[in-house]
Amino acid sequence: MKLFDKKKNRKDSNSKKWDRYQSKDILPMWVADMDFESPSCIKSALRKYVDNGIFGYHSEPKELRDILKKYLRNKGWNIKKEWIVLTPSVGAPIYSIYNLIPKNTQVIIPTPIYLNFLKAPKHLGRKVQKLPMLKDKGRLVIDFKKLASIAKNNSWLMFVNPQNPGGTVYSKKEIKDLSKIIKEKNITVFSDELHCDLILQKNLEHIPLGSMKTIEKNVISFYSASKTFNVPGLNCAFAVIPCDNLRKAFEKNAEGITDDANITGLIALSAAFKKGWKWRDDLIRYLNKNLETLLNAIENHKNASPVVPQATYLLWVSLKNPKRKNLQSHFERYGVGINDGIEFGKKNNIRINFATNHQNIKKASKRIEEALINL
Ligand SMILES: Cc1ncc(COP(=O)(O)O)c(C=O)c1O
Repeated sequence: MKLFDKKKNRKDSNSKKWDRYQSKDILPMWVADMDFESPSCIKSALRKYVDNGIFGYHSEPKELRDILKKYLRNKGWNIKKEWIVLTPSVGAPIYSIYNLIPKNTQVIIPTPIYLNFLKAPKHLGRKVQKLPMLKDKGRLVIDFKKLASIAKNNSWLMFVNPQNPGGTVYSKKEIKDLSKIIKEKNITVFSDELHCDLILQKNLEHIPLGSMKTIEKNVISFYSASKTFNVPGLNCAFAVIPCDNLRKAFEKNAEGITDDANITGLIALSAAFKKGWKWRDDLIRYLNKNLETLLNAIENHKNASPVVPQATYLLWVSLKNPKRKNLQSHFERYGVGINDGIEFGKKNNIRINFATNHQNIKKASKRIEEALINL
């Protein structure tokens, strides 16, 4: 645990998260990266690459596809290696995927959702149908009944599991129910499963949507080491696309537009999925400790209602009738840099990134309490 307690000075390290506030006394708790060093298996694999000293065009690490196949087999999904498409991120394909969707097709986006899902369709002139999520027994979930009633034949659905910003982990029953709707309406799904190795509660498990046999060909799934092992700056993710036509269209669409996955990211991905799991388990314990401290502080305040995340290091908090219009500036005034919920499609909410050392969390909790008192 000492590993995560280590104070890192990210101020002089070209960090997007920390550079927003430069010399101001504001703790950055916004963009989704962690203030922790990646596991030593990643650092030594990268050191070996750097020490070789030649940084030419690369091919993919030979064992990578076997590692990824095994990774998904452990989650109950037996994939073929050729279904894997390496990508530089999940963000870039969110944008480029809209090119694949015919202009008049219904695209359903459950909200709130990771911001690029909302920005991309505007950018590419596609219309979307927002589907507001429900708060059910403290979880933020898709309204499956409403989905079944509004979905047209051959629609597209943007699905995020575990969900960001709510941290929902969908149960096996929910995944089965969703599969039925997908099958019935022949929906194509972009399934972003980037946070699936950050489940905070021991009794929960991640069920890949693509592992549902009846709809396997309808799903484009995305995974990455970037969130769990804190390597988003190394630009690497992977898609699993069982449908040959869809996979070919996806690859053709990316040609000349989206770059290859970065070699440093591929090296980190191989190392992390092979040897990083013990580190991940320690990380989860640490994140739970941080979450507990934050929740203890926030739950004292009647005007704040947190959604306790089942996964991720992000805490989504609904605020009751805030007088302050600009929530980001308000919290900054009290020394914490949060994301305003409006970025995810829902006002009067904030998202707090709690992946930092515990001392920062204690400091931030006090500041957040002050900000809530004066909201
Ligand atoms: C749900 C979700 N999808 C995609 C992304 C972006 O991932 P990438 O850094 O691979 O573009 C994020 C980043 O926070 C995310 O939370």
